[in-house]
Amino acid sequence: MKILFIGDVVGSPGRDMVQEYLPKLKLKYQPHVTIINGENAAAGKGITEKIYKSLLEWGAQALTMGNHTWDKREIFNFIDDATYMVRPGNLPPDTPGNEIVYIKSNGKEIAVINLLGRTFMQPVDDPFRKLDELIEQAKKRTNIIFVDFHAEATSEKQAFGWYTDGKASVVVGTHTHVQTADNRILPNGTAYISDVGMTGPYDGILGMERDAVIKKFLTGLPVRFEVPKTGRNQLSGVLIDVEASTGKASKIERIQINDDHPFFS
Ligand SMILES: [Fe+2]
Repeated sequence: MKILFIGDVVGSPGRDMVQEYLPKLKLKYQPHVTIINGENAAAGKGITEKIYKSLLEWGAQALTMGNHTWDKREIFNFIDDATYMVRPGNLPPDTPGNEIVYIKSNGKEIAVINLLGRTFMQPVDDPFRKLDELIEQAKKRTNIIFVDFHAEATSEKQAFGWYTDGKASVVVGTHTHVQTADNRILPNGTAYISDVGMTGPYDGILGMERDAVIKKFLTGLPVRFEVPKTGRNQLSGVLIDVEASTGKASKIERIQINDDHPFFS
């Protein structure tokens, strides 16, 4: 089973890239399932119902989220009906939204899980123990388990990857917006990458307008960060091969589309 995952979609530049390139990526790689991280999809922070629906319409079967899940207030109006959105699992009991989303493909089910890291992030529950709890639940239905670990520190992501090895099919890191080159299959069959990278402005800083970020470093004063409205864009993703019967991954390949890495069909 082939799983395509597209990293943090940032604002309208990121959405434009998904709309333009997801059909081309599907033609080229023929994934059975496509999952997108959508926590930055609305102007860099959060998601709206319209954008949630657009990303599904353009070809995703499930969306993962992160620390910006709640930034657009309207999420509280539609998250209960957002069947294909999975929010971070390690939040207090009774938090709205799904802790696991199951997607069907070719008679098989894929469990999709999203967890938040704790190092240099807002306090949340323990993602390691929550992972075990969610995996126990998911294993009752399927061996194919996809985990988006949304975290800041590479050390925490690596620890989480090794901790998950052999328990889930895939652990991809998101949140830091720069693709890392450490994609590999861990010894017990879990596909891993520290960060998939983001989909959005190519010439900004982590997807934000760069002059504002530079000004922040030069002055230390509060600055408003915005997603640039014009300029070049990029798409970051990974393609994973999972043996459907065992749930073990055999391959994880990085995808980058930008002017320095043009798309070839
Ligand atoms: Fe994030």
